[in-house]
Amino acid sequence: MAATRTFSIIKPDATRRNLTGAVTKMLEDAGLRVVASKRIQMSREQAEGFYEVHKDRPFYGELVDFMVSGPVVVQVLEGEDAVKRNRDVMGATNPADAEEGTIRKTYAESIEANSVHGSDSDENAANEIKFFFDEDEIVG
Ligand code: RTP
Ligand code: MG
Repeated sequence: MAATRTFSIIKPDATRRNLTGAVTKMLEDAGLRVVASKRIQMSREQAEGFYEVHKDRPFYGELVDFMVSGPVVVQVLEGEDAVKRNRDVMGATNPADAEEGTIRKTYAESIEANSVHGSDSDENAANEIKFFFDEDEIVG
């Protein structure tokens, strides 16, 4: 099966605790290759736009506040069945429900401060990658 791409964010709770390398190692150990990566401070406009799909959910405002509360690392990951592979190693949204050995079980602080984002479909992955990266920033 051919390699596909997904989009990942190492969230502010993880950058604050200096876990960028530890989280990336778990992604790499799961068979994903980092083909683009940059550390950024998201603007409020970027966070609102990125999470537009959640704008009617009760946690939207708090989620945007959290995502601009510190730097994040945005990454493009490549691997076989990358979207699912990444979701599997991330674990459930709520760390209390996440399986042992997943990033969220290991590192997440709460359902909101849950250390990583990962695209949930190939279509969303393509859109999310475009939101943060130019094609010439991605080197496989
Ligand atoms: P993500 O989009 O970050 O990969 O996470 P996900 O698919 O597992 O979860 P999703 O339902 O898309 O929610 C997006 C992010 O919103 C925060 N959240 N807070 N307070 C709450 O009840 C709540 N529920 C979700 C989390 O940061 C979640 O990852
Ligand atoms: Mg999601």
